[in-house]
Amino acid sequence: MKTLRTVDELRAGLNGPRRAGRSIGLVPTMGALHEGHLSLIRRARTSCDEVVVSLFVNPAQFDEAGDLAAYPRDEARDEALAAEAGADVLFAPSPAEVYPRGFATTVVVDEVSAALEGEHRGAAHFAGVATVVTKLLNMAQPDVVFFGQKDAQQVAVIRRLVRDLDIPVRIEVGDTIREADGLALSSRNVRLRADERRRALALRRGLDAVRACHAAGERDATILAAIGRAAMAELDVEPEYLELVLPDSFTPVASVGEQPVLVAVAARVGDVRLIDNDILNGSGQ
Ligand code: PAJ
Repeated sequence: MKTLRTVDELRAGLNGPRRAGRSIGLVPTMGALHEGHLSLIRRARTSCDEVVVSLFVNPAQFDEAGDLAAYPRDEARDEALAAEAGADVLFAPSPAEVYPRGFATTVVVDEVSAALEGEHRGAAHFAGVATVVTKLLNMAQPDVVFFGQKDAQQVAVIRRLVRDLDIPVRIEVGDTIREADGLALSSRNVRLRADERRRALALRRGLDAVRACHAAGERDATILAAIGRAAMAELDVEPEYLELVLPDSFTPVASVGEQPVLVAVAARVGDVRLIDNDILNGSGQ
């Protein structure tokens, strides 16, 4: 595996494979790689000829300076893990390479960015994600790009962006990878203290309670959300939001019919902000 730092190096490195008709897969990450990221890299390995993993802690998408400063970074470890999972190229540019002096363009995806994460983290978060993902897609020009269902709203934002801007790429979404007890893997989990680690299970408990109540016949979204919140309260966690929305537009639903409905939850446990989700009437876990 090669580690490349500049857009020129990346373009030059991918020229040969592209001309030879080899398919290119891109897995965008912010590093601190865990099984969630590695599952996406392995998936890319099985469906593409050339696998590029990007590692860039994107300052533009952080809404809290403290979160950016505390974000775990260990490039040597990430390099070894990415190689082991089958990456051919690790693209690890500097902030100045991605945002050179005079950088003035922002990609804003209206509507789907506004709800839930957009409301709680501020509009700048998804604008930062949309801008950097647009840039990464232009830099690597992959045939396929891989994202995790764990960040369901991010997936919805990127699907819309790719459609609206006619970006020629296929999007593949990997299932959420979890710890044995159900906690969704996240680079931020390492910051949970022992007691917080136990309480962090509240997100999964809330989602499980909603699923069980739906399975028992409840269809009213307000009641289902209240059941989820109550289950979280048992672990002394109050969500920032727990809402039932349409998976593509992230608009709230009043009741659950035959169509897939996404149950999205976010909560702060200690200093750490966690998110998770489940799909009713679909391929949720
Ligand atoms: P990051 O949080 O590093 O996540 C990189 C990719 O891994 C995302 O597609 C995310 O959804 C996926 N992922 C994270 N945890 C996962 C889990 N437990 N199971 C499955 N997939 C998981 O998301 C970002 O970085 C950034 O916003 C990025 C897209 C790289 C743009 O900066």
